[in-house]
Amino acid sequence: MEAIAAFPQGLEAEGAKELLSLGATSVRIQKRSVAFKADMALFYRLHLRARLPFRLLREVARFRVNGPNGLYQAIQRAFDWELWLHPSMTFRVDVSGSSSGLTHSHFTALQVKNAVIDLQRHSTGNRSTIDLQNPDLCVHLHLHADVGVLSLDGSAGSLHKRGYRSAVGIAPMKENLASGLIRISGWDGNCPLVDPLCGSGTFLTEAVSSARFLAPGLGRSFLFEGWADFDLQLWNKELQCARNSQLPFKELPVIIGCESNFEIANQAKINIRAAGFANDIKIQMSHFRELKMPSQAGIILCNPPYGKRLNAHDDLNNLYHDLGSFLKQNASGWQLWLLSGNPLLTRSLRLKASQRIPVSNGGIDCRWLKYQIN
Ligand SMILES: C[S@@+](CC[C@H](N)C(=O)[O-])C[C@H]1O[C@@H](n2cnc3c(N)ncnc32)[C@H](O)[C@@H]1O
Repeated sequence: MEAIAAFPQGLEAEGAKELLSLGATSVRIQKRSVAFKADMALFYRLHLRARLPFRLLREVARFRVNGPNGLYQAIQRAFDWELWLHPSMTFRVDVSGSSSGLTHSHFTALQVKNAVIDLQRHSTGNRSTIDLQNPDLCVHLHLHADVGVLSLDGSAGSLHKRGYRSAVGIAPMKENLASGLIRISGWDGNCPLVDPLCGSGTFLTEAVSSARFLAPGLGRSFLFEGWADFDLQLWNKELQCARNSQLPFKELPVIIGCESNFEIANQAKINIRAAGFANDIKIQMSHFRELKMPSQAGIILCNPPYGKRLNAHDDLNNLYHDLGSFLKQNASGWQLWLLSGNPLLTRSLRLKASQRIPVSNGGIDCRWLKYQIN
């Protein structure tokens, strides 16, 4: 079948590599998504083990669209609604893209919803209700020119949620973005890792989890478990493979986070404990200048405040200046990867980036910057 994985913008290439490594074929990179071919086993496997996607869509129909009325009719014909959506089930319709006469996604979603419930009423006298938070079936329609692609979303909520994070700091990074940035940095669990401004600890927990190949989807439930063609035997097989692929006792190098805000440092500790990594990650509650860097050089990952989402009265220029000075004095031989949302601030580091990768952090245009510290 055809499938789509949605990624944070800038992580498409890394996401494609992850899909390939788990068995996807015919992988095609698009903007904020990757199209690929999958069988059901792979679709289940990706929900359990892929770390980078926001969501995974399974294509169920493709048709020509000719305005609102044409869409209404095409939706009724395109899919066996009677089999997949009993009136006792709730559903949600997500729309992306546009087509002639269908330029407002909310209107398009209503048109799809009406087509489905009118069909149900006609054949059974009853209709499904909409549930935006916890639907039983999540339908996605993508419009491009005069083509509509109807897909089913394997999960109602975003896959970046791993389930352990109860506390979220001030400007937390999404786990799938953190995971992708770690992969780009090349950290593979074999050298020390430090986040000197760690917030709620997202880089640190994702680092441990990916170095041990922990499957982020274990312990979650997915919408496809309620699909008409759900294959329990195949699902159990993939669950077992996901468990077997984990290395929960793999020894890891020193992993340290530093956070100057007392409450946020505590939140990081709570998250790390909830993820089961209290023995793997050390959180120091202090200004980063108090950090004692491990003697073996490794990788520094960080996402300092850049003034767009945080209420920045602090002198951020001084913060970046101090960070640059601290690293030059204490982290010779280390590699720094820094997520920047403001090029004026990163100038204050007084370091020269050797790589600049554009990525979007929650809609903010950022750069993932690589520096070699001498
Ligand atoms: C953008 S947030 C990091 C978010 C983090 N990546 C997460 O996912 O939660 C930046 C963090 O740097 C912390 N911070 C600011 N100045 C600091 C300093 N001098 N030393 C250590 N931490 C600092 C802030 O309290 C804030 O939590």
